[in-house]
Parts: sequence; structure tokens; C-alpha cells
Amino acid sequence: MVPSSIEIAELDAASVLGPERREIEDLWRLVFPGTTDERFAEILPRHARREGFRFLTARTEESALAGFAYGYLGGPGQWWHDQVSAALGPDLAKRWLPPGHFEFVELQVRPEFRRRGTGSSLHDALLTGLTSPTAVLSTERSNTAAIGLYASRGWQVILDEIAFGEDYPPFLVMGRDLTSG
Ligand SMILES: CC(C)(COP(=O)(O)OP(=O)(O)OC[C@H]1O[C@@H](n2cnc3c(N)ncnc32)[C@H](O)[C@@H]1OP(=O)(O)O)[C@@H](O)C(=O)NCCC(=O)NCCS
Repeated sequence: MVPSSIEIAELDAASVLGPERREIEDLWRLVFPGTTDERFAEILPRHARREGFRFLTARTEESALAGFAYGYLGGPGQWWHDQVSAALGPDLAKRWLPPGHFEFVELQVRPEFRRRGTGSSLHDALLTGLTSPTAVLSTERSNTAAIGLYASRGWQVILDEIAFGEDYPPFLVMGRDLTSG
């Protein structure tokens, strides 16, 4: 259930890259302070071009940005897809990364709005109405909040550990079957 003071809205790519971009990146910087200016310069423009790009915001009655979530259709040639596909191996990749799968890329809630259902509401709204057979994501193995949220919403760990590179802590990969409701 969406908390009564929060409104979820879907943005198109032009809004994400235009009027809303500064506020989204300010929240992202607050939640993940290690994100560099170089990464901010390219990540949203690159992701917003992808097929099936879907971006949601959660705003308070006063219009403050409380959180956001986004994803797109994953596929070969994308860095994350190719890393995860190789790590899963052919059988699991076929099961979890079929054509049209949805990559659940980001879910972020401003610290003072957490534990009120905002993350769950964004999560549910992002997946609602998708025609993808599966959704997949990665999160840090130490991220108990995110893992708790996803596990409570039907996701399962499909790869217990993945090393994305020297600059990254250990992650795990989760998947959710979207064909079974
Ligand atoms: C993960 C995150 C999005 C959760 O947002 P939220 O608005 O607090 O989530 P909700 O209030 O909807 O919580 C839903 C469930 O998630 C789990 N959860 C949330 N925060 C938790 C925490 N700190 N510890 C353990 N479980 C937690 C609980 O199961 C919770 O249900 P409950 O409150 O009934 O116990 C938020 O903590 C966040 O923005 N973290 C930083 C960014 C991040 O790590 N994003 C995920 C990247 S993959």
C-alpha cells in the first residue's frame, strides 16, 4: 500500500534527463555518496535510451522527492547483462535472462522516508503491468535492507556472489518470475 502522504508518478525519458534530473541526481548522491561526477554525466542518458525504460518517482504532498526506482529491458551487449550472464552460466542465464527480461536497476529512498512502505510502493509500481517473463537485479551482499525488501516481495537469490571488478564490493543476483503473478 502506498503511504497516504506519498504519490507515485511515472516520468518519461525527456523529464528524467531534463527538469527532474538535478533532483534525482541529488538524491542519488545522498544515498550513494561514492558516485562520481563522471558516472552521473553518462549513466542516466545511457539508461534512458534503452528499450522499456521505466522511471518512477515518489513525492510527498509538499512535492519533495522521497525516492525513485527505474529499470529497462536487459539484453546482450549491455555491461551488466553480459557480466551476469557469464557468471550464471548457460542454463541459469536461459532461465533468468530470456529475451525481454526486465532489469531492475535502481531503488532509492531518502533516509528520512524509509521504513514507511515507500520503497515497497515504488518496487510494486515499477513491476506492475510489465510483460517481461522475469525481472533481475543485483545488490550488495551486505545490503540487508534491500535484500529484505526484495525477499519479502517474491525475489529469490539466483547467484550468491558475483564480482563485478576490483572497484566493487561483492554483490549477489536476485530474480523474480513475473509470469506467476
Ligand atoms: C532498500 C530501501 C529502498 C528500502 O526502502 P524503504 O522505503 O525503507 O522500504 P519499505 O519501508 O517499503 O520496507 C519494506 C521491507 O523491506 C525490509 N527492510 C527495509 N529496510 C530494512 C532494514 N533497514 N533492515 C532490514 N529490513 C529492511 C523490511 O522487510 C521491510 O518491511 P517492514 O518494514 O514491514 O519490516 C532503502 O533502504 C534505501 O533506499 N536504501 C539505500 C539504497 C539501496 O540500497 N537501494 C537498493 C539497491 S539494489
